[in-house]
Amino acid sequence: MATATSSRERPAILGGTPAIDLDQRDAKQWPVIGAEEERAVLEVLRSGELSVNENVAALEADYRRWLGVRHAVAHCNGTAGILAALHAFGLEPGDEVIVPSATYWATVTPVLHVGGVPVFAEIEPQCLGLDPADVEARITERTKAIVVVHLFGMPSKMDELLDVARRHDLRVLEDASHAHGARYGGRPIGTLADAAVFSMQTNKLLPAGEGGVFVTDDDELAEKVVRLGHYERLLHLESPNRRFAATGFGLKLRISPLNAAVARTQLAHLDHRNARRNENIIHLSEKLEALGLQTFLAPKEPPGTQRVYFEYLIRYDEQRFGLPADDLVRALQAEGALVGRPRYPLLHQQPLFTEGHWARIARVQPTVQYDPRDLPRTTAGNNGSLLKLPSFPQAERALLDQYATAFEKVLTQAEAIPRAGS
Ligand SMILES: Cc1ncc(COP(=O)(O)O)c(C=O)c1O
Repeated sequence: MATATSSRERPAILGGTPAIDLDQRDAKQWPVIGAEEERAVLEVLRSGELSVNENVAALEADYRRWLGVRHAVAHCNGTAGILAALHAFGLEPGDEVIVPSATYWATVTPVLHVGGVPVFAEIEPQCLGLDPADVEARITERTKAIVVVHLFGMPSKMDELLDVARRHDLRVLEDASHAHGARYGGRPIGTLADAAVFSMQTNKLLPAGEGGVFVTDDDELAEKVVRLGHYERLLHLESPNRRFAATGFGLKLRISPLNAAVARTQLAHLDHRNARRNENIIHLSEKLEALGLQTFLAPKEPPGTQRVYFEYLIRYDEQRFGLPADDLVRALQAEGALVGRPRYPLLHQQPLFTEGHWARIARVQPTVQYDPRDLPRTTAGNNGSLLKLPSFPQAERALLDQYATAFEKVLTQAEAIPRAGS
């Protein structure tokens, strides 16, 4: 039984009773794996078809129905799907691809493996997606594509980004790895651009263990993706690509049917599990917004836009509260909150880029220099003020209310919270 802690009680970091005393293990348990997954995996194991199994085609059909797209091609992971998509875009050595810096590396690094040059652009503060104006400012005659990521499940500003792409004749790939089930302007994320890729790695909203799905409405892109990494399918084509059936284009990127089995059961539960996360996080976010924190609630524009929560990030303004973010985190942790810092170091500051290794991987003459001081707005937005909370996939309201109390307790007594080093 939880003991109600008032926001005026002594903060736990000063010896008071922690605001959060409910067990959090079940609340944050992810992925949810049960009898259905066990049955599905056993069925594949017993079939003996552990490499090429018809359940992969079934998963792809599920994806096509779910998103209303013409093609879905399952891959061994999302990184492979992104590589395949960029290959299908037909990039030539030295072609530039505009990308964000605040993302998981796989949004960007496959560009190198198709001989492309990543050009980092600023993100905008509202949705943490690529800033359309800055993207446009970075276009050169060598720019061929943009990779958009819907970070943490927040749809990027797609109308504006697609408008820039249309005016400059650029391909657009949606990295939808964080955004299974999100919508933008009434349409599913993953159906807005030339193609999209969904990672199904264990933490994702649609977890398979490992796996990734490339989707597109474009017949030619889909066939190029198959040609690159799925040689076993080429014999079944009517098109001239059939002649490559003995070799494909040299990679093997298919998903394991065991992972496909997990993915199929997870997809069947995606909507209601997303709904539960959303309800939980929105409930807590409304309380945190009332305390003066920014919680990235779903943008209202365009109508029909709905975010999902791969991860739950909030923005804390140290100036406003007069309490350094690190001290806030320590005080919240003392209250029992599982709060930490977001985990993506900015890519344009990484040695892969700043030390020039990227050009050897891409096998191009370095036409751009990566400067860690570039992207001041992205850097400022990533520095310190973002906090990460659990995404509460299975939490009960009582736990969320305890989190709200923990924040209120610490923020309303901010001047009393000990500062590191003092
Ligand atoms: C934004 C983003 N893009 C791409 C990937 C790559 O996916 P995977 O881990 O399935 O290769 C991930 C995931 O881990 C990701 O978070």
